[in-house]
Amino acid sequence: MKNYKTAPFIVGTMRLGQWGSKMNISEIEKFIEDCIALDLIDFDHADIYGSYTTESDFGAVLKKRPDLRSQMRITTKCGIKMVSENRPEHQIKSYNLTKDHIKQSVDNSLYNLHTDYIDTLLLHRPDFLLDPQEVAAAFTELEKEGKVKYFGVSNFSVSQFELLQENFPLCTHQVEISLLHREAFENGILDQCQKWGIPPTAWSPLGGGILFKSSQDPIMIDVQKIITSLCKKYKAQPDQVLLAWLRKHPAGIIPVLGTSKLSRIKNAKESLKINLTHEEWYMLWQGVTGNEIA
Ligand SMILES: NC(=O)c1ccc[n+]([C@@H]2O[C@H](COP(=O)([O-])OP(=O)(O)OC[C@H]3O[C@@H](n4cnc5c(N)ncnc54)[C@H](OP(=O)(O)O)[C@@H]3O)[C@@H](O)[C@H]2O)c1
Repeated sequence: MKNYKTAPFIVGTMRLGQWGSKMNISEIEKFIEDCIALDLIDFDHADIYGSYTTESDFGAVLKKRPDLRSQMRITTKCGIKMVSENRPEHQIKSYNLTKDHIKQSVDNSLYNLHTDYIDTLLLHRPDFLLDPQEVAAAFTELEKEGKVKYFGVSNFSVSQFELLQENFPLCTHQVEISLLHREAFENGILDQCQKWGIPPTAWSPLGGGILFKSSQDPIMIDVQKIITSLCKKYKAQPDQVLLAWLRKHPAGIIPVLGTSKLSRIKNAKESLKINLTHEEWYMLWQGVTGNEIA
């Protein structure tokens, strides 16, 4: 599929700014430098993160340090129109994947990120009114204009993906996948990625951190016990076991990491050495479903 490449982990930016750690520009700069030093050079954005502010925070770093741009790859997304004080014209939350909205969103992202190209543009969620030929026309123009190199989707169904793929070659599909959200293993999305030879990327790969919190739920307690036993075997941390669980799948799932702590980014990278057995993979599945498989 073209020449689309990504590191084994993508660094998510959703929680760096207003929607999470509220890092200042120097802190974001240091975080970017540290990730790049670990060879984790892919950064995942969306126009809406931080209520339309996180791209600009990141872009402020690129304005100050233009040398960093050529050392990284940037993904961003468009198509969700959020109600926000930064978009007073939005009366309700809606999806919009018309050509005009896609192209305007890319221009906004280029401006906010202080860059003249986006590596990968994802359609954030399927617009129920999406016209695949109109989207393909937008992608074709953006590619010709040199504004976007690769295109993909996020949160699409198998049939929605197929419809668009028939009109324009997609390079990736970003979906929610974690031990807590296993739909992609069963709804055909991972099969479809394998069929087309495109890497799926997993948002909230650690379930947003829920599995690390103490819980009274017997299922969660059980899963945490299984994770602890695997941590002992592999001399690993719980996040490493959960990432290894995702990476065991032959579709080559690329987790989009949500942490803003470098130590956890390092942990993720080190988890590459863990290779769970088939049985261990199913032990976690059984633990989280509370049932032996059929
Ligand atoms: N396409 C989409 O629709 C979509 C939707 C949501 C997100 N995304 C993308 O996916 C990325 C990741 O999503 P996410 O942030 O939900 O991912 P996640 O990695 O599942 O969750 C991150 C959260 O878990 C916490 N965490 C991570 N490791 C931990 C540990 N060992 N112990 C305790 N807490 C831990 C983090 O806190 P600390 O910061 O303290 O480590 C953070 O609050 C986002 O940044 C965004 O780029 C895409």
